[in-house]
Order: sequence, then C-alpha cells, then structure tokens
Amino acid sequence: MITKVLEVDNHTVTTHFVLLGFPTRSAFQLLLFFVFLAIYLLTLVENFLIILVIYSDGKLHKPMYFFLSNLSFLEMWYVTVISPKMQIDFLSHDKTISFNGCMTQLYFFVTFVCTEYILLAAMAFDRYVAICNPLRYPLIMTNQLCGTLAAGCWFCGLMTAMIKIVFIARLYYCGTPRINHYFCDISPLLNISCEDSSQAELVDFFLALMVIAVPLCVVVASYTTILTTVLRIPSSQGRHKAFSTCASHLAVVILFYSTTLFTYARPKLMYAYNSNKMVSVLYTVIVPLLNPIIYCLRNREVKAALRKTILCKSSEPREDGAVIN
Ligand SMILES: *[C@@H]1O[C@H](CO)[C@@H](O)[C@H](O)[C@H]1NC(C)=O
Repeated sequence: MITKVLEVDNHTVTTHFVLLGFPTRSAFQLLLFFVFLAIYLLTLVENFLIILVIYSDGKLHKPMYFFLSNLSFLEMWYVTVISPKMQIDFLSHDKTISFNGCMTQLYFFVTFVCTEYILLAAMAFDRYVAICNPLRYPLIMTNQLCGTLAAGCWFCGLMTAMIKIVFIARLYYCGTPRINHYFCDISPLLNISCEDSSQAELVDFFLALMVIAVPLCVVVASYTTILTTVLRIPSSQGRHKAFSTCASHLAVVILFYSTTLFTYARPKLMYAYNSNKMVSVLYTVIVPLLNPIIYCLRNREVKAALRKTILCKSSEPREDGAVIN
C-alpha cells in the first residue's frame, strides 16, 4: 500500500525516492530481468526495422508511413526512458532514484505519452482524408502539412510535459518516500507529496483533458466518418481494401488509448489500485512491442517492403505484395 513517510524526517527535503518495483524473491527477479531485457531489445529492433524499411523503400514514402516511422521513433525512446532503469532495479538491492533522475524520467515519459496521443490523432486524420477524400488527398496531405503536423505533435508533447513537471516538481516531498511502482509516474508522485497537491492535480487534469480528450475526439470523429464511408462502398472487395489500410492503425489506437486512458485521466485515483502496476506494464512494455507487429502483420505494403529489405537486397523487381494491393 501507499507509505507516506510523514513521520520520519519531517523537515528533510527529499533528495531520493525508493522505487519498490516488483517485490518478489530474488530468483524471480533474475527471471524478470531477462524477460524484460529480451522484450526491450526486441522492441528496439522491431521499431528500428520499421524506420529502416520506410526510409529505404520508395513505395513507402507516403504520409501514412512517415507518421508510422515517427511513431516507431517515438516508441524507441518511450521504452528507453522506462526499461533500462527497471532492469537495473531487478538486479540491484539499491532501488533508489535521485530526485532529479525521477523528474527527468517523468518529464520524458510524459512527453512521449502526450506526443503519442496527438500523433495517433494526426494519423487518424490522415486516414480520414485518404479514405473519405481520396481525390484531393495529395493536395491536402502535402509534405509541408505532414511536417507541420509531426512537428506540432512533438511540440505539444514537450510543452504539456513541461507544464506538468513544473507543478509536480514544485510540490514538497519529505524524507525518502517509497514509491510502490517501477518508474516515476504522475500518480505516485501526486500521492506521496507531503503538501496539498490539489493545484498540481487540477493542472494535470486540465492538460489531460486537452491532450487526451481532444485527440480522442479527432480519432472517434475520423473513424466514424471512415466507417460510414466504407460501409457505403457497394462491393465487398472494395470495402475490404479501403478498410484494410486503416485497420492496423485502429488496432494500435485502441490498444494505446484503452491502456493509458484511465491512468492519465485521473492519476491520483489510479494509484490507489495495486493492479495499476500491471496496467502500466501493458502500456510501457507490451504495447510498444505489439505495435510494429500489428503494422507488419496487417499491412501488405509494409510486409512486402520488409521482405524485400531483409531477404533480398538485390535490385530484382519482385513486387509480389504491391501488385495484389
Ligand atoms: C516524421 O514525419 C515527418 C513528416 O512527415 C518526416 O519528414 C520525418 O522524417 C519523420 N521523422 C521520423 C524520425 O520518422
């Protein structure tokens, strides 16, 4: 449960936090270390492959894939902020993290989460234009607009995280608080502060509303329009073809939003549940591992390009996947 270290060192300002992580027997810690290390390395390789394939295959030089490569780039950093520290903690007895280390981790993690929310919305908008407005798609989704959208996502993510961190780092922490979590997240920090954190919570709630609710509305509106458009296509083959380009994106969106929504919409409330740690494993470890797989399995163009890049680097014009498409 939550341990408030109010009594001990009431007047000492916190320089370190203790991350309790996953308290199990040490043999099991070692097992967890190897499992999470393998997942981490696999995630990096997968996402790197996606970026590599998109850059090296001219057929994938389209807005949708530029955004996808941004997403992979984002996820490589996203896991790097969490996983290495978590793995070190599995092996060592000293599970402390310095105050600055904690705030740095929180800052970058929040940046990547917020950027991902907005980026997924931008990708949904891209699919909406592609399916509902196919003739004007090249005119609307110019390189310039894509660049602006991608840069805007990163900018909004960085700014939102900055404001959140200012309010959370300003809170007064005392003693060496024990955090029942495996990384510095918003909800544990709000809960262990020794002073009233309602102002930080209010700011956090308002920003979450902007960064989660607005992109979520864009996603829902885009996919509602896409679905009604697709259902009006008379031939089932045409329906399938139109929808297949956005099915993988929809799956990724549902995965990411459903696992993070409850944690970041009401952070203080979420920490009360012990299962929060398991939910966090889903979106910090499992989702970044699954995203590239979903894209590769569901998307014929990516699959074909991947095969070409990995298996035969020769210039032999094998266009198997692309022709069927
Ligand atoms: C992100 O998207 C922009 C705009 O489409 C593109 O120019 C850029 O290369 C992408 N960056 C990465 C790392 O994929």
